[in-house]
Amino acid sequence: MLPSVYAPKDFKRLFAAGDIVARCFEFITPHIRAGISTGEIDRMVAEFLRVNDARSASLGYHGYPKHICTSVNDVIVHGIPRDDEILKNGDIINIDLTAEHKGFHADSSRMFMIGNVSQRAQELVQTCQDALNSAIAVCAPGVPLSEIGRTIEAIVRPHGFSISEDFVGHGIGKVMHDDPQIYHWHDKKFDSMKMVPGLVFTIEPIICECGNKCKIDEDGWTARTVDGCLSAQWEHTIGITEDGAVIFTEQQY
Ligand code: MF3
Ligand code: CO
Ligand code: CO
Repeated sequence: MLPSVYAPKDFKRLFAAGDIVARCFEFITPHIRAGISTGEIDRMVAEFLRVNDARSASLGYHGYPKHICTSVNDVIVHGIPRDDEILKNGDIINIDLTAEHKGFHADSSRMFMIGNVSQRAQELVQTCQDALNSAIAVCAPGVPLSEIGRTIEAIVRPHGFSISEDFVGHGIGKVMHDDPQIYHWHDKKFDSMKMVPGLVFTIEPIICECGNKCKIDEDGWTARTVDGCLSAQWEHTIGITEDGAVIFTEQQY
């Protein structure tokens, strides 16, 4: 059996974990403005998780020092929150949170635009969100995993943006990172891997304004574009059902 295939009762727990992540984003959103530090955002998330009986799965993961990743402008992933990193007008930032609640994990990231952001930056952020939502929309039993990458490419390429090939989506559930890997570009090796009911994974495309090559800072975590151009990422944790897919990390009404 594929890893990351879960029973209906586990879907209930994944919804509970995902709801905490979604509500945490709603809680911090009004505060993500010019003048706040990424370190302060990290503390707000830590407190929200604490009072909601959850914990950050990132804290301590291979020694990662904070609760969330905060990736500003040219940082593509794994930016580390700092008290001396202050958001300013025109910045774009990705906030990535993986929470564990009662043994189940939910992983999501969103983009925030600070004040007045350039047209091209807005287009980058919107295109990335469109790519994620379009990819989720094709997910259903019997659909090859390669359809995810194919769909994302079809949305992103016409804008002239590039897709990072250094980071991938992943199976998730009782652990944060599991098989299968989810590529955000088309690769025929996934043509024969079909989605099945119960499969739980993330989709988390990273797209770049210019080239898709990245380098890692001295801190061993922060990945940024080599050319200094902007990048954007959106992420959801989803589960395959009998007739499509559900999004665990969106608030359920
Ligand atoms: N949330 C990230 C993901 O989407 C993983 C972060 S692990 C960390 O897979 F250690 F860098 F925080
Ligand atoms: Co993820
Ligand atoms: Co994530």
